[in-house]
Amino acid sequence: MDRTDLTNMLNIKHPIIMAPMFLVTTPKMVIAALKSGITAAIPALNYRTTEELQDVIKHIKSETDKPFGINLIVNRSNIKYREQLKICIENKVDFIITSLGNPKEAIEKCKKEGIKVLCDVTDLKFAKKVEALGADAIIAVNSLAGGHAGNIKPKDLITQLIQNVKVPVISAGGVATNQQYKEMFGYGAAGISMGTVFIASEESGVNNEYKSAILKYKGTDIVSTEKLSGSKLTVINTPYVQKVGTKANILEKILNRNKRLRKYFKMLLVIKSMKRLEKAAFSTTYKTVWCAGPSIEHIDSIKPIQQIVNEITGN
Ligand SMILES: Cc1cc2nc3c(=O)[nH]c(=O)nc-3n(C[C@H](O)[C@H](O)[C@H](O)COP(=O)(O)O)c2cc1C
Repeated sequence: MDRTDLTNMLNIKHPIIMAPMFLVTTPKMVIAALKSGITAAIPALNYRTTEELQDVIKHIKSETDKPFGINLIVNRSNIKYREQLKICIENKVDFIITSLGNPKEAIEKCKKEGIKVLCDVTDLKFAKKVEALGADAIIAVNSLAGGHAGNIKPKDLITQLIQNVKVPVISAGGVATNQQYKEMFGYGAAGISMGTVFIASEESGVNNEYKSAILKYKGTDIVSTEKLSGSKLTVINTPYVQKVGTKANILEKILNRNKRLRKYFKMLLVIKSMKRLEKAAFSTTYKTVWCAGPSIEHIDSIKPIQQIVNEITGN
């Protein structure tokens, strides 16, 4: 799997994307990833202003000429979507990863500028929709992914998608070893998007408690919580998470169901959860909510990104 549709599309050495991770991915990680022969994407949401986003893109470009992307949340909860898209186009990033919404506008605008658009999908129906809109590739987010996981197992999802869509299928979720990496290509993936495996890298800027938790906890300690963003999010089942529970309470459920209130409630929840995750990632607090996927099972030491990539690709 040295040459795949993904390596050809982006002209990279290994068919891997360091997946965008809210509050975790930093320019330092992206630069290290690009230098290791893979590509990477950074969430626009990590920056409070579009000026900051622009500075980051310029900084990465000044350090390396290798291709990288920006992740855009394309639903209505992201009020800065249009501005962020404009910055990405003006600064000619190599690709966009769209998540949580309809990518039509991003595809239309990026295509004209030669910027590739890779769309997160969790099922065939949405995959067909984004393919029809002109997506260059799809990122198949499976049930083992960290963050907002899908519901379908990696093999089933990849197989179903490659049989029914023509664009390259990049698999996201549950890869942290060379064996898992090879399995995904065996199912027909054109590339892998990996997040969790890079959280405890040397270059990662999260605090030591978060990194230690990634090493200490096992795959079975990952639970899905509705408490943070309203949508299910995978987190480590720390004593604090156990204490507050993972199910939305009655008031949260009512607000979520009410069409008129839902939009504002979601925005509030997102702001609240961003603050909570930020605290857990960067300062020591007993209210620890650490986002990660079940592939923490295979992570037992803190390594440089280059070494992680070498071990996974078997180089
Ligand atoms: C801490 C963390 C934060 C994430 N943040 C985002 C995000 O901001 N945008 C996004 O599209 N996906 C996000 N994801 C999902 C990843 O992009 C990717 O799909 C996932 O990490 C793949 O599964 P893996 O963790 O098993 O490798 C996040 C995942 C994690 C673990």
